[in-house]
Amino acid sequence: MAVPFIDLKRFEPGFMDRWMEKVRHVTENTMFVGGPVVADLEKRLAEVTGAPAAVGCANGTDALQLALRVAGVGPGDRVLIPDATFWATFEAVVNVGAKPVTVDIDMTDLQMDFDLFRKAVDEYAPKAVLLVHLYGWCTARLDDFREFCAARRIPLIEDGAQCFGVTWKGRAIYADAWMATTSFYPAKVFGSCGDAGAVFCSSKELADRTRLHGNHGRVTHYLHGVIGWNSRMAGLDAAWLDLCLDYFDARMASRVEAAARYREAFARMGNVKYVAPPEGCGENGYLVATLMDPARRPAIEAKLKEQGIGFGNTYPSAMSEQPGARGWSAGHVGGDNARVLGKSILNPPLFAYITPAEQDEVVAALKAAMA
Ligand SMILES: Cc1ncc(COP(=O)(O)O)c(C=O)c1O
Repeated sequence: MAVPFIDLKRFEPGFMDRWMEKVRHVTENTMFVGGPVVADLEKRLAEVTGAPAAVGCANGTDALQLALRVAGVGPGDRVLIPDATFWATFEAVVNVGAKPVTVDIDMTDLQMDFDLFRKAVDEYAPKAVLLVHLYGWCTARLDDFREFCAARRIPLIEDGAQCFGVTWKGRAIYADAWMATTSFYPAKVFGSCGDAGAVFCSSKELADRTRLHGNHGRVTHYLHGVIGWNSRMAGLDAAWLDLCLDYFDARMASRVEAAARYREAFARMGNVKYVAPPEGCGENGYLVATLMDPARRPAIEAKLKEQGIGFGNTYPSAMSEQPGARGWSAGHVGGDNARVLGKSILNPPLFAYITPAEQDEVVAALKAAMA
C-alpha cells in the first residue's frame, strides 16, 4: 500500500456540507477581504490560544514581517535566527531591511541553542530575536529565552508557523509570547484553504500597530499614518479556519497519537535515531524527526520511493548554506549542527487521520530499507 507524505483530503463526515454553507454565506454577503468573518476569527483565535489579541494577515511570512516592523526592526539592524528553519524566517528579516545572524541548534531538541544565543547577543547586539518553534514542538529552554530577552529588553518574536496547538507547561505557546506569529498554509496542522497567517500579541496596543501596518497604515480609510502594505486576510480563509477550529482537537489528537506510535515503533526497531519534544512541551504532531546516517539516507530514500512511501526532509539545507543568503547574513554563531541536521533529517508520513495500518506499512518499509 502506498502512503503519501501528506494527505489533506481526509475530511470528517458533514465537513464538506458545512463548508459549502460557509462559501455561500461569504459569497452572498461579499465578505471577500477582512470584515466581520475575519474579526470573528481573530476573536476566536485569541480565545482558544489564550493570547491577549490576534491579528489575521495574508500569510506566515507577512506575519513575521509585521511583527518585525512593530518591534522597530529596520535598515542597519541585526536579528538573531536559528540556522535550522524555513527560509521565510531569513527572508522576513532581510525584507524589512535588517540582516540575519544565524545561530546553531541544540541537537537534543533541534531548536536554537540557548548558550550560543547568549554568545550571539554579546557579539552582535541584535535589535530583535526570532525564535522558531520547529517541527511542532519548542525548545526546552523557552523560559530562559523569554526571561533573558525580557531582562535585556530585546524584542523576542516567536515564529510559531509550525506550532498551532503546541503547549508549554500546559499553556498554549502563543499565550505567553511577547509577539508570536503563525502560518495557515494548508499543509500546517491548522491550515487554511489558501495562504493566510496571524500575529499573536501580548497587548491590544501591539495588535493595533500590527493591524495598522498590515492595512496600508490606515488610520481612517484615506488617512495613512505609517508606511505599511496590504496583508489582509481573505474572508474565505477566515471562514475555512473558523470551521476547522471545530475539528481542530480531533485532528491534532490523531496526529499526536500517530507521532507517538511512530516513536514507539522506532524505539522497538532500535536502529532509528529520532528526536522527541522536550519535557514540558505538548507537541501538535506536525512532524516526526528521524535522523539518518547522511551517507545512507539517499539509499534509504530510494527504497522508500520504490515502495510508494512518501517522506519529507524538513529542511535539507541550513539557512547559512542557502545560496540566497550570500551577501545578506551578518554572521553565524556556533558550529554546523543545522547543516548536519539537513543531511540527516527524514520525516515519515504524518497527517490527520493517518491509519495504524498505513503507519505499519511505513515502519515495515523503513525496516527493510535500513536492513
Ligand atoms: C517556520 C516557518 N516560518 C515561516 C513560514 C512562512 O509561512 P507562509 O508560508 O504562510 O508564508 C513557514 C511556513 O512554511 C514556516 O514553516
